Amino acid sequence: MIILGIESSCDETSLAVYDSEKNLILSTYTSSQAELHSRFGGVVPEVASRNHILNIEALFEQCMEEAELTPQDLDAIGVTNAPGLIGALFVGVSFAKALGYALKIPVVPVNHLSAHILAAELQNEGLEAPYLALIISGGHTHIYDIDCAYNFELLAKTIDDAAGESFDKVAKMLDLGYPGGPLIEKLAEDGDATKIKFPIPIKKRPDFSFSGLKTSVLTQIQAGKETPADIAASFQKTVADVLILKTLRMAKERGRRTVVVAGGVACNVYIRRAFEAQKGFDIYFPSPRLCTDNGDMIAFTAHKFFGQRRFASLDETAHDRMQHINK
Ligand code: KG4
Ligand code: ZN
Repeated sequence: MIILGIESSCDETSLAVYDSEKNLILSTYTSSQAELHSRFGGVVPEVASRNHILNIEALFEQCMEEAELTPQDLDAIGVTNAPGLIGALFVGVSFAKALGYALKIPVVPVNHLSAHILAAELQNEGLEAPYLALIISGGHTHIYDIDCAYNFELLAKTIDDAAGESFDKVAKMLDLGYPGGPLIEKLAEDGDATKIKFPIPIKKRPDFSFSGLKTSVLTQIQAGKETPADIAASFQKTVADVLILKTLRMAKERGRRTVVVAGGVACNVYIRRAFEAQKGFDIYFPSPRLCTDNGDMIAFTAHKFFGQRRFASLDETAHDRMQHINK
């Protein structure tokens, strides 16, 4: 099967073509709006929607050209329909539905979070559910248990900020810019991660909390005793410690040895190494390019769900909030 994947849930328009027989991405094009939004210190939803509209058709044409295909060669279309910015999602969903209708091919709605997780399978042949998955992105910090039939059971989530959001907010407090994750990671390279011992919030509970940590960081910045690099490094270490503690504790409880870590924050090399250093688990990550938003993971997930006949009708729409991931 040849499947087109469309992602437009936030500030990246990304399209990719996946050949399921070869298990190969034939082409992938992304237009990032990060620079456009950086001067506002975060994503402006209306600006995001408008730029998706401007970009999507050209990206589709580029994808077809590089894959040496015509639209008629497509067998199905996968599209992110939840969760995300509603106006941004509408652009991808409308494009997918119109194309699907014109070509008389099915459209498969893809939950963005499930796609982030399955991106790990695209690059690690042999990796298959069941496993436990931690998703750490700009909007979510969730632990899922995924059974053999790819039913997703939500086991833990953040009760306030998401992990990526805490990186972005701390970067703002340190005047580094947006998006904050890579900038904190860079600054932390020159810092001592053991310099400041930040408390781990709600340590005994399965859920996450990052807003108290953000306040502790602010207190440190205002005190002015430690260098920004030491603060960044200590903050990053605390986030890694929390993620590892809660994810692996849950994996043990659930009897899962295989753990997938995905989403934008999983690009962070310090966090990747910290997970990899843990004994007794097989830990998988998508490559950094597939940790941030991309059409590849949408096309791949659509193929996986296509097998389960989870199709969209023309009534299907976008949802800003989290839909049940198994839908
Ligand atoms: O998955 P993603 O691209 O978009 C969402 O679905 O949210 O994640 C974006 C988030 C941002 O908060 C960004 O700061 C964070 O991932 N991020 C990182 C790194 N690269 C991106 N956080 C920490 N370290 C990084 N290297
Ligand atoms: Zn994402």
